[in-house]
Amino acid sequence: MKLASTASFNWTSLLLIVAFCSFITPAVSVKHENFKTCDQSGFCKRNRAYADTALSDSKWESPYILDQSTVRFDQGILTGIVNKKIINSDEIVRLPLTVAFYESGTARVSIDEEKRQKGEIELRHNSKAKKQRYNEAEKWAIVGGTTVSTGAATSKDTDAGTTKVVYGPGSKFEAVIRHSPFGVDFKRDGETQIRFNDRGLMNVEHWRKQVEKPKEEKKEGEEAVVAEPDKEMAEDESTWWDESFGGATDTKPRGPEAVALDVSFPGYQHVYGIAEHTGPLSLKETRGGEGKHSDPYRLHNSDVFEYEEDSPMTLYGSIPFMQAHKKDSTVGVFWLNAAETWIDITKQSTSANPLSLGVGSATTTQAHWISESGILDMFVFLGPKPQDVIGAYTELTGYTQLPQHFSIAYHQCRWNYVTDEDVRDVDRKFDKHNIPYDVIWLDIEYTDGKKYFTWDPMTFPDPIGMNEQLDEHERKLVAIIDPHIKNDNYPVNDELKSKGLAVNNKEGNIYEGWCWPGSSTWVDCFNPKAREWWKGLFRYDKFKGTMKNVWIWNDMNEPSVFNGPETTMPKDNLHYGGWEHRDIHNVNGSTLVNATFDALLARDKEEDKHNVRPFILTRSFYSGSQRMGAMWTGDNQAAWPRLAESIPMVLSMGISGFPFAGADVGGFFGNPSKELLTRWYQVGAFYPFFRGHAHIDTRRREPYLAGDPYKAIITQALRLRYSLLPAWYTAFHEASVSGAPILRPHYYVHPGDEKGFGIDDQFYLGSYGLLAKPVTKEGQEAQDIYLADKETYFDYFDYWTYEGPGTVNVASPLENIPLLMQGGHIIPRRDRPRRSSGLMRYDPFTLVIVLGHSGDAEGVLYLDDGESFDFQEGAYIHRRFVYTGSTSSLMSEDLATTPGRKTKDYLKTMENVRVEKIIVVGAPASWKGKTEVEVSEEQARQSSGARMVPMEWHEQVEGKASWAVVRDPGVQIGSGWKIAFA
Ligand code: NOJ
Repeated sequence: MKLASTASFNWTSLLLIVAFCSFITPAVSVKHENFKTCDQSGFCKRNRAYADTALSDSKWESPYILDQSTVRFDQGILTGIVNKKIINSDEIVRLPLTVAFYESGTARVSIDEEKRQKGEIELRHNSKAKKQRYNEAEKWAIVGGTTVSTGAATSKDTDAGTTKVVYGPGSKFEAVIRHSPFGVDFKRDGETQIRFNDRGLMNVEHWRKQVEKPKEEKKEGEEAVVAEPDKEMAEDESTWWDESFGGATDTKPRGPEAVALDVSFPGYQHVYGIAEHTGPLSLKETRGGEGKHSDPYRLHNSDVFEYEEDSPMTLYGSIPFMQAHKKDSTVGVFWLNAAETWIDITKQSTSANPLSLGVGSATTTQAHWISESGILDMFVFLGPKPQDVIGAYTELTGYTQLPQHFSIAYHQCRWNYVTDEDVRDVDRKFDKHNIPYDVIWLDIEYTDGKKYFTWDPMTFPDPIGMNEQLDEHERKLVAIIDPHIKNDNYPVNDELKSKGLAVNNKEGNIYEGWCWPGSSTWVDCFNPKAREWWKGLFRYDKFKGTMKNVWIWNDMNEPSVFNGPETTMPKDNLHYGGWEHRDIHNVNGSTLVNATFDALLARDKEEDKHNVRPFILTRSFYSGSQRMGAMWTGDNQAAWPRLAESIPMVLSMGISGFPFAGADVGGFFGNPSKELLTRWYQVGAFYPFFRGHAHIDTRRREPYLAGDPYKAIITQALRLRYSLLPAWYTAFHEASVSGAPILRPHYYVHPGDEKGFGIDDQFYLGSYGLLAKPVTKEGQEAQDIYLADKETYFDYFDYWTYEGPGTVNVASPLENIPLLMQGGHIIPRRDRPRRSSGLMRYDPFTLVIVLGHSGDAEGVLYLDDGESFDFQEGAYIHRRFVYTGSTSSLMSEDLATTPGRKTKDYLKTMENVRVEKIIVVGAPASWKGKTEVEVSEEQARQSSGARMVPMEWHEQVEGKASWAVVRDPGVQIGSGWKIAFA
């Protein structure tokens, strides 16, 4: 393969690199001029203009008609042809429609274009691109949930011009497919929840042959002017065949090909999702006005240098999944398209119907989805609970990988630990200061001249010795591997090029761009051979210096290209199979993580280890990436508002099926004050992915450097995380089998409480009723926490009681994390301070029973070896602890449903792991004077009968709950037993 000429590198590109490298002195904010607005993106502008015309014309009729004679329904799938009438012409474009109804109750509406489906179109520029619309996003995103429901029934109602399909659990759902104009209404229990094309904004830009028109001369570097469409809907052709931005021209061999659809949620006031963006969890309107955005939310994975607060601008990853919520009802849609996408959101209030006897006005939220290419492919979830929607979405795209236990503990990173001795020194200092941590990270400087899979021989002469030191305390190393390969004489680059595994430019030659190493090439993970090759690179004998405690960080995989348009790849670059980069851009980063995941699995099997679960952190992601690892929110800043915004960002990931999320603790750019750093650790202790990270130009800020009192307070936050690891791991397990978020926003936990739908600065951890609202403002000594329900909440640390519903004020001096326990839960902990989580493997447990209004409580614990796949063969403990108020007794019940060939051996390793303490918070006054409890073990019950064990009683004082403690009841964590308190 020939390498693309480097002569195309021009001064504008150089300036861009210089601009990008201004990392050295952080500028104040994002460079807007480097990223398109909707107005500067041809297809977005065209579709917004289309919407404006349609919505301003009372006679507007959507030109899409479902040809009734083509409609077939067979075995849960409806097919037909939607005809698009071309305005001012007799031409008709045929668009094959499929509506599939799945067993899960999910419906899927897909629309392609016949000519392109058959490859019958002509391409410009002698392009080697594929002649179809991209229809392979599902190969990367979808892994299950597509069993067609053969039970879905149909009844044709031709008079009304509709076809109706009843489907879903208990036949409660109905899809009403309107023929003319085409549209679909989705109903639950007879009530419309979601409407497609009811505003007539559906638009499938069909293929057409370019008619060459005399063009105005454009000087190099000059921007194309995007013309306004005229009132008669004459189409704006100025960006159909090429489009320039920032000095680069995107050639479009297939011409215009956007797909767009309006989706309305009647009666729904809030929409959430479409990560990744900054700003509130409840998405804002986007067509201007006070407090609203004026651009649509954009999904076009990009390395946005110094991204800004509260913005619809794109970020590093895309999850085109949106949920709408109203009182006691959640519904959702998933727009499966990997091309650049914009989503406009508007809300409409309908005033009260005079006949509705005082029922107030309702809000309808309307979304307008616009993608540059690909097919129109939308999944519909009808709820009604938030978990029903998230569960159905994650059934399709896969559940979060059950992570290795170490990876949910604390990670210490910076750009860069500069030598292997530096790493060893940091490791020793954590120990010296008695601060726990599990993982230390290496950023790009460990490599030999940014050549991944190598070590700088001067600074990292002994990586194995370094890794062995870490291993002594069960600690790990994570090393960065990016997808750009230094375009230099080194074996990885030589092989990539000679084997034809790199991404190509539009001419079909190897694409060359700029990233950390300077001139670089990019591995094309769409190519199965490239993935196979990538796999080999991670073998211990290939990536020398790594061993079993080394894991991987995939960064810059949007991909970030310093001299590329909008800091990424040209859209007309070509990938395996002839797909343009335009088609696959948003899924690109995911393919790298996929390949790395397979590589880490293969690496392990080769060494004949017991099949360890990979750990990978990725910056770029798409729907489905949750199956492979964790994400973080990229290059944030050491500033208070950035600490605050990290909470809705992490919550948004949680409800989008990708809960293993976090933000750089301390802020990436800049130096945080000690107060900010301390508060950030208190927030970070609640990020599912908890890592301190910092830019190369920042001062060192390892927790032990913070000085008094900060060091001690940060250590407390870390210890809180470590002691709650059993609860965290159980929450991850729940996510791994049901998609349930790990951090849960109010609307998810209290779907009927309208006051909480906009709350995104406090959250619950898993199913434990642990309600946190860490401080995110400077000098804030007290925190208002909103309690949604009529329930008692207790301060986690001192058992102060609060009664809901309503807002309560919790003291929050620097050393306090406002954290409450909702009555009715049992929280598992491990309280012994250790250096790393690996050293806690056989530590005893504490159970905290939190008694509320009902007097009953319940909590679950999931446990396994924390690293292998043996849990799939039954090597795990899954218990439910149930406290029953009426009998004052606590039972440990077995929840394990899939015993397997490894169950016995695993339970044997855990047989001495006991419960060392039981704390009952809110213990009933009637226990006063009691000094013992009766313990009976399931196995020993027959032989030895019950034993009496001492109990301490603590009287209620000054607003604090009374509580009781049983120390060492002599029961094991993995077996059945009963403790009678009265
Ligand atoms: C960009 C990443 O976002 C950041 O975390 C990392 O430190 C730098 N790349 C250098 O690798």
